[in-house]
Amino acid sequence: MKASIFAVLTSLFLFHIQYALSWPGMTTTLKDVMSMGKRQTNNDGDEPKELIGDLLTLSDSQLTPVAADIKSILLGTGSAESSTIDTTITPPLGSKACAADTCCAYKWLSLAMIKKFAGSSGRCTRFARAAVRLGFHDAGAWSKTSAFGGADGSILLTNELDRVDNKGLQDIAAVTKAWYKQYQPYGISMADMIQFGATVATVVCPLGPRIKSYVGRIDNPKANPEGLLPGVNDSADKLIDMFRQKTIDPHGLVALVGAHTTSQQHFVNISRDGDPQDSTPGVWDVKFYGETLQPNPPVRVFKFASDVALSKDPRASSEWNEFVNGQSHWNEDYAQEYVRLSLLGVKNINSLKECTKVLPPAKKSYTAPDQLYLTLWLSGKYPQLGKYIDDAQSLLELVGSILPILKNVLGGRI
Ligand code: HEM
Ligand SMILES: *[C@@H]1O[C@H](CO)[C@@H](O)[C@H](O)[C@H]1NC(C)=O
Ligand SMILES: *[C@@H]1O[C@H](CO)[C@@H](O)[C@H](O)[C@H]1NC(C)=O
Repeated sequence: MKASIFAVLTSLFLFHIQYALSWPGMTTTLKDVMSMGKRQTNNDGDEPKELIGDLLTLSDSQLTPVAADIKSILLGTGSAESSTIDTTITPPLGSKACAADTCCAYKWLSLAMIKKFAGSSGRCTRFARAAVRLGFHDAGAWSKTSAFGGADGSILLTNELDRVDNKGLQDIAAVTKAWYKQYQPYGISMADMIQFGATVATVVCPLGPRIKSYVGRIDNPKANPEGLLPGVNDSADKLIDMFRQKTIDPHGLVALVGAHTTSQQHFVNISRDGDPQDSTPGVWDVKFYGETLQPNPPVRVFKFASDVALSKDPRASSEWNEFVNGQSHWNEDYAQEYVRLSLLGVKNINSLKECTKVLPPAKKSYTAPDQLYLTLWLSGKYPQLGKYIDDAQSLLELVGSILPILKNVLGGRI
């Protein structure tokens, strides 16, 4: 009895505070609260930006320049992309000079990652795509009410990988654990390794943004709570609420799911293993947004029910439509939201360092050398090619390697 009176008084008090502080854009939030979870649909999905971690309590004068820059990114005023490149010669790994520069070991790690992430077609490989998803699944297991979790390395330091949410991440997990074994002695945490992998992978994909990359996260060997990652059959309401709990507003969510521009699904429908979410897997373009809206994209394009639901929701659709022809707008927004995602649960933002300078340069244009074969495959022909496309191998090269054999068989008649 006492408890329920207390609850009523608390909610009245909170209501009063909210009312007193309300501004024009706030009315929807108030109505949301009053309609007990039934969301208003006239909200356009661009909501006040929230701070996270230690930035919630530190004053501006206490912030390092790096943390001040992060704060401006989170508030939507600062850019989360950077083209600053380190052109100095990198000292050998293990040398004194290398140990003296936080970003030196990351430079070597970046070179190892690029080898795994870039394919001969110029597109990014299945490892790159999985690295982006791994970054999301480590950081995303967090909500505003979590005491711990988020971008803490736990996905590879615990048995989280066995969860059905994480199906498909086994290969990148093995590769990342091997990198960890090699680079952890030089001071790289698992949490940083995973988030760095995601930003290297993104910029290796043609047209991908060069996202500001921060290091200094602290590992956590405890599994994060379940139920914090989205499902492919979730409604727009469920997805939007889940991401709001991660401080990501509907526009932020729309920007982040654009990562499906590069993907090829394996487990949503196993009889369509390898089918991409737009007609350009391995390329960080905006085709995903347009093709998710199209009733009849190329036959092999496999739309996720969650993406379709989101694209139609009034809180998401205006931004979704803007991205259809908005590559640089999307890159900007994706980078901003990814910086936020990559810092969920991080409580020491004020002690992070920036190592963006060791990322490879962005590829600002891309033409597929093997478009002819890609087009055939997308129309449903030669399903066997899916495997090579997953590896970002140039199909032209593949055909080239078969030609001499054919010539031999056909006695030089081609
Ligand atoms: C609405 C929320 C989301 C849902 C329901 C969702 C669901 C999925 C599903 C079902 C797959 C296919 C897995 C498979 O069958 O192999 C997938 C792949 C992928 N997702 Fe998401 N996702 C969501 C948000 C995100 C976000 C926020 C990111 C990144 C920031 C992301 C990045 C990726 C990537 C890169 C892949 C491809 C992985 C690969 O090729 O191995 N997704 N997602
Ligand atoms: C999603 O829905 C489809 C079709 O109803 C179903 O076959 C599939 O198993 C569901 N997937 C998940 C992960 O619940
Ligand atoms: C999976 O794909 C196959 C082949 O296109 C289709 O016949 C089947 O209905 C799909 N299954 C589900 C659950 O959507």
